[in-house]
Amino acid sequence: MIVIETPRLFLRHFTLDDIDALADILGDHDNMRFFANRFERKDAEDRIQKNLRRYAEDGVGQWALLLKPGKKFAGYCGLVRQEIDGNREIEVGYALARQAQGQGIATEAARACMNYAFTTLGEDRVISLIRPENLPSRRVAERNGMAVEKESEFVGLPHLVYVAHRPDSKVRTSIRDATRSDPFCLH
Ligand SMILES: CC(C)(COP(=O)(O)OP(=O)(O)OC[C@H]1O[C@@H](n2cnc3c(N)ncnc32)[C@H](O)[C@@H]1OP(=O)(O)O)[C@@H](O)C(=O)NCCC(=O)NCCS
Repeated sequence: MIVIETPRLFLRHFTLDDIDALADILGDHDNMRFFANRFERKDAEDRIQKNLRRYAEDGVGQWALLLKPGKKFAGYCGLVRQEIDGNREIEVGYALARQAQGQGIATEAARACMNYAFTTLGEDRVISLIRPENLPSRRVAERNGMAVEKESEFVGLPHLVYVAHRPDSKVRTSIRDATRSDPFCLH
């Protein structure tokens, strides 16, 4: 089932037929070095099963990312309900095969997911939980208008909590000024 289409990609529900393709991505340990766990091939099936449960329970989850033309599997991007610092949030997250990186694909996919959260789900805000040293992921968030709200511990590691608000949302929380005295500032 296709959930989102953009000019260059589709996001669709995972199926168990995606296990090998996902395992290739999760098993690239250098590419996945910013995640708390070192994934093994067997983790691909667990992750797909978990997402099938998320689709049923939450209506969203991580979706398989397919490139046009040809619908080649290139990774995942999606929306996951997370609890962070006692608050229920919706997070946009992604991982791409190396060959698909550096072309703005993650930015395009994440932006489409954020729009889906704001328009279809009516969410006021979307977050991304990103390790401070994961500069490519931070660039994706920043190119999509997200800004650092705070630093929090997540899965036992320090993470930056990037946030974007729905354009017409009245709800605003303070965003840290990333251009001054920010130890994680990119500039
Ligand atoms: C994060 C990830 C999805 C980005 O994918 P991508 O398709 O290359 O992203 P984009 O092409 O949309 O944008 C990448 C941006 O990061 C920048 N970038 C890439 N490597 C960088 C580095 N080492 N240092 C600083 N910036 C870097 C790129 O220049 C680009 O920014 P720009 O367009 O302003 O120049 C990809 O690196 C990935 O799959 N990583 C492994 C999984 C992961 O860490 N996921 C995120 C968990 S929070």
